[in-house]
Amino acid sequence: MADSTREVIKQYDRYVMNTYVRAPLVMTKGKGSRVWDVEGREYLDLFPGWGVSGLGYNHPWTMRALRGQSMRLIHASNNYYHPLQWRAAKALVEASFDGKVFFTNSGAEAVETAVKLSRRWGHGRHEIIVMERSFHGRTMAALSATGQSKYQEGFAPLVQGFVRVPFNDLEAVRQAVTPKTCAILLEPIQGEGGVRLAGDEFLKGVRRICDERQLLLIADEIQTGMGRTGQWFAYQHAGVEPDVLLLAKMLGGGFPIGAVVAKRAIADALTPGTHATTFGGNPLGCACILAVFEAVEAQGLLERVNQLSPVMFKRLEGIAARAPVIREIRGRGFMIGIELSVDGAAVVEACRAKRLLINCTQGRVLRLLPALTITRAELDRALSILEEVLLAVAKEVPR
Ligand SMILES: Cc1ncc(COP(=O)(O)O)c(C=O)c1O
Repeated sequence: MADSTREVIKQYDRYVMNTYVRAPLVMTKGKGSRVWDVEGREYLDLFPGWGVSGLGYNHPWTMRALRGQSMRLIHASNNYYHPLQWRAAKALVEASFDGKVFFTNSGAEAVETAVKLSRRWGHGRHEIIVMERSFHGRTMAALSATGQSKYQEGFAPLVQGFVRVPFNDLEAVRQAVTPKTCAILLEPIQGEGGVRLAGDEFLKGVRRICDERQLLLIADEIQTGMGRTGQWFAYQHAGVEPDVLLLAKMLGGGFPIGAVVAKRAIADALTPGTHATTFGGNPLGCACILAVFEAVEAQGLLERVNQLSPVMFKRLEGIAARAPVIREIRGRGFMIGIELSVDGAAVVEACRAKRLLINCTQGRVLRLLPALTITRAELDRALSILEEVLLAVAKEVPR
């Protein structure tokens, strides 16, 4: 029997744990910014895989890397060596800062690694200052570091040692430092928190505090990294270098892999036997990382983001002028939040009915994370659909 949307959903209900809020869309195929469902309907995706498919679905270079490497070796134990892990690590170090890399399988695992690294490096200091409204993942330490209590309900006792302060409040950060503090963890742009940017002065101030008090500055760039904001990493906009950088999502161009880059002296705090992960840095993932670096460079994708982003913001400002349900437009590069005065779920649904996929976070913030390869025509089409939907919503809301 051929799968249909209804049949697939029925089987999920029966066999798959019900932990996700899912829309009734069964994806079967993707190419660039387009994706097809099981009934052959085509969608334009401005939120491809939560930013994972940042090169677009099935980018030819990632596919080529996967095909080639899968014929040679798909897994190698980390007790041996393979020729791609150092190459992927070198590419990351060259794009960020002089250091060493530990490869993980996900973002949360990168956060866990950073927590362990900070504690080992801290020699008895164990507290990590984290930001309100932050999001760092669902494993226990990452969840405990997350600055949104709604994700933590029912999971107590949490991992101890995370001290929460308001985002962008330098004085609060300063006051939270104690002799037990070893690190400050933040997202340069909070994604799940509603696309909220850390101010340049805040980032510079946090860097100063870290230097004065000998703390690690950990940048969680799991959502912002790999070119999404028009620089390889969002911290580069402020010229503030972290000590530890966390990556995942777009890093493997669709293949699940994460990474922790740490400055050399800090990286050495983790010695053989202190940390490990069976699949981390496997040949397939590393081949994909190299393909992503090559594609971003060869196709000039950072320049592309910097060219198209202002066009997109301008168009959105134009829509905002006519659709007063838009309260604010925020973001950087290809990471955009549109805060509404009304609930965003209906907007997401209305867009989906018109074959446009977007996201909403924090109830009222529409979030767009388009692929860096999206064409101008696709972007125009997507924004026209969004405009149509938002103008219709604005008509229904009393001023
Ligand atoms: C900033 C940030 N950190 C960590 C994570 C967790 O990553 P993963 O879902 O790969 O564990 C996410 C996921 O959305 C994220 O956006």
